[in-house]
Amino acid sequence: MKTQVGIIGAGPAGLVLAHLLQRAGIECVVLEAQTRQYIEERVRAGVLEQGTVDLLNELGLGERMMRQGLMHYGVELRFGGRGHRIDFADLTGGKGVMIYAQHEVIKDLVAARLGAGGEIIFGARSVSVERLESEKPAIRFEKDGAAKELECDFIAGCDGFHGICREAIPAGVLTTYERNYPFGWLGILAEAPPASHELIYANHERGFALMSMRSPKISRLYLQCKPEEDLNEWTDVRIWDELQMRFATRDGFSLTRGPVIQKGVTGMRSFVIEPMQYGRMFLAGDSAHIVPPTGAKGLNLAVADVRVLAAGLQEFYGSGKREMLDSYSEICLRRIWKVQRFSWWMTSLLHRFQSDGEFDRRRQMAELDYVTSSRAGMTTLAENYVGLPME
Ligand code: APR
Ligand code: PHB
Repeated sequence: MKTQVGIIGAGPAGLVLAHLLQRAGIECVVLEAQTRQYIEERVRAGVLEQGTVDLLNELGLGERMMRQGLMHYGVELRFGGRGHRIDFADLTGGKGVMIYAQHEVIKDLVAARLGAGGEIIFGARSVSVERLESEKPAIRFEKDGAAKELECDFIAGCDGFHGICREAIPAGVLTTYERNYPFGWLGILAEAPPASHELIYANHERGFALMSMRSPKISRLYLQCKPEEDLNEWTDVRIWDELQMRFATRDGFSLTRGPVIQKGVTGMRSFVIEPMQYGRMFLAGDSAHIVPPTGAKGLNLAVADVRVLAAGLQEFYGSGKREMLDSYSEICLRRIWKVQRFSWWMTSLLHRFQSDGEFDRRRQMAELDYVTSSRAGMTTLAENYVGLPME
């Protein structure tokens, strides 16, 4: 088998790349380890930056998102028993974010690709990459018990944090930058109407909490917990009671409770590798970087990477020039580090750090006060949250 670009992984990075390449007339094949059903049901985050929304619409992939997604033009920061709205539209010239679950995006991208006759090989086993330094790198895999080889001009490693592509780069090439946080998020999906129209990020003595949503009937809520928190110790009642305490306001805010339909614990880390390319393989999305979920940036950063990669590949196939491809890491990393900074900052602003003393706690409260009262402070949050412009 042969193709121009072999894409490993059908997450947001791999699938958006496939659509961008298809639009540019570049042939590609997507390989995915899991089944279609699995990737279409996996519960992940759900906030799309304005630029991600615009791109999906431009690619003709936004029809269901525009009908079913919820466009938000602000968020609330809640602390000291009071809420403070950050007005994105006012602060960023009309921009906002779309609340639309990642697995819904995946469904739309898969359906559109298969509908247009594009290829996605699901259930690819024992995937490995070969001859990365050569002009014709290859992907080996097994499908239904048969060994296959896909010869490519380029390989896009879009296989997430636990994928094989990053690991295939020889030792000594990559530098890793990493930070682990001493807490996790316990997340639930509940059949309960969201108690507010917009997301609420709460900083409380007992720890961080976030109220998000998936639809006017389904809430998505998170609370700061231990990284190795045992879910068995958290009955639905205990989760709701804890959430209620953390969101409480002086004027008697009350969460709407309902049956919990899914729950899980997510660890929190910041992670970046440099560079993001080796020979003819390019890494994009979670395979190259992880952000803590506080800024809701994971999916958006994956999409930003593949926009750069697609532009570089388009330049290469159009004119034979490699300048943009050669600068792929450098261009992506400028955005990645700004987004790392923002995600780290939101995390440190909103969580309770056990190691913090009274000085740090007071400094954190002063920062929240500043960010919600100064127009410059609010703008810094708003312009990062809706997404910095693409270079
Ligand atoms: N072979 C083929 N596919 C693989 C392999 C492999 N060896 N290993 C992993 N995959 C697949 C995974 O099953 C997954 O579907 O690669 C895909 C990677 O997708 P994501 O993990 O969603 O990563 P990415 O596309 O970079 O998107 C980042 O997803 O993890 C969330 O919240 C994160 O929003 C962020 C976004
Ligand atoms: C979510 O809806 O899952 C969500 C929203 C905002 C975040 C993280 C997750 O910062």
